[in-house]
Amino acid sequence: MLYKNFSLKDKNTFGFEVFAKKFFEYESESELIDFLRENQKQPERILHIGEGSNLLFLHNFDGIVLHSKINFLETKEIDNQEVIVRVGAGIAWDRFCEMMVEKGFGGTENLSLIYGEVGAAAVQNIGAYGVEIADIIESVETIEVKTAKNRYFTVKECEYGYRESVFKKSKKGEFIVTAINFRLQKNPTLKLEYGALKTLLADNSNPTIADVRRAVISIRESKLPNPKILGNAGSFFKNPYCCKEHFEALQRQFPKMPYYPVTIGEKNFSPIQKLSAAWLIEQCGLKGHKIGGAQVYHSQPLVLVNLGNATPQNIAELSAEVQRQVKAKFSIELETEVNFIE
Ligand code: EPU
Repeated sequence: MLYKNFSLKDKNTFGFEVFAKKFFEYESESELIDFLRENQKQPERILHIGEGSNLLFLHNFDGIVLHSKINFLETKEIDNQEVIVRVGAGIAWDRFCEMMVEKGFGGTENLSLIYGEVGAAAVQNIGAYGVEIADIIESVETIEVKTAKNRYFTVKECEYGYRESVFKKSKKGEFIVTAINFRLQKNPTLKLEYGALKTLLADNSNPTIADVRRAVISIRESKLPNPKILGNAGSFFKNPYCCKEHFEALQRQFPKMPYYPVTIGEKNFSPIQKLSAAWLIEQCGLKGHKIGGAQVYHSQPLVLVNLGNATPQNIAELSAEVQRQVKAKFSIELETEVNFIE
C-alpha cells in the first residue's frame, strides 16, 4: 500500500505528528522487490522504520518511509539441544519473545518487553540484562536497496558491537532486513547475572524462562515509561566507554561511580570500562529537568520523555543540554542511541 502525505504520529514512539511525503507498507519480500525496482526509475530518499521506537523525527520527512509487515515464523529442528527459528522482520519483538517462551525455546527471555520490531532489533543489536540479540542470531536475510537482490549475512558479517551493526555503520541504508534466523536452546541455560533479576528470582530454586520473562517485564515496567502513555524512545544515550587514565582520574574524584567491564572493543580504540550514562546524568542534577514539554525521566534519566506537548526540537535541545552538562562535569561525550531524522 502506498500512501501520500502520511501522518507518522502512530509510527514513532515519541508520538510526534510529522508527515512523510509517501509511506509504503509491504507484506512480502516480492512486494518489496517490486517497490525497489520501481523506485530505481526515479529514486526518492528512503527511510525504513520498524515500530519507530528509536527515532526522533525533527520535521516532516521528504521521501518515502517504508514499513514491513512480513510476519511469518518457521521452526527448523536441528538437534535435541538447539533449534533454528526463522522469523519475518515485521513481527513485534516482544510478541516474538512471548511466542518463544511459550514454546520453551530459550534465548530471548532477557530481552522481553523491548519495544520495536524484529528487523529493527537486528539492526540495532538490542540488549538488556546481560544479553544482546547478537548472542542468539544465526544469520540475517536482507534485500539490497540499489539492486533489489537478496543478500544473506552470517552473524559474523553483521559486525555486531554494543548497539552497533554493519547496517548502522559501513552499509547504512544499503540493506533492508526481511527475516532473521535465530539459534535458540531447547534446554535453556538462564542468564541471571544482572543484579535486579537475581534478586527477584532469589526465592525461586528452579526458575524457568517464563519466570525470567515475568521478572524482566516487572523490572522494565517499574523503571521505564510505557511509550503508549508517555512518549519516549527508550535509552536516549549509550553508556560511554572510558579510557584507563580518564577512568582512574574520575574514580579518584567520584569513588562511588558505577562501571562495567567492557566486552567488545573497537578498532584503534582500547576502552577499559563502560560507565553508566544514567548515573552521570543524575550526578549533574538533571533528573526531571525540562525544556518545553521534554523531560529527563525521573526513574531512569537515560530516557527522555514527551510530556504530551513537546516538540521534536524540545527533545533535541534537552539532549544537547544533557550532553553539554555531562561533558562539563566529567569530560565525557555522551553519544545518542536514538537516530535523529532530518
Ligand atoms: N542509575 C542511576 N540513576 C538512575 C538509574 C540508574 O544512577 O536513576 C545507574 C545505577 O548505577 C544503575 C545503572 O545506572 O545500576 C544501570 O541502570 P540500568 O540497569 O537501568 O541500565 P542502563 O545501563 O542504564 C542499559 C540499557 C537498557 C537496558 C538496561 C538493562 C543502554 C543504553 N541501555 O541501561 O536498554 O534495559 O541496561 O540491561 O545500554 C534501551 O536501550 O532502550 C534500554 C532501555
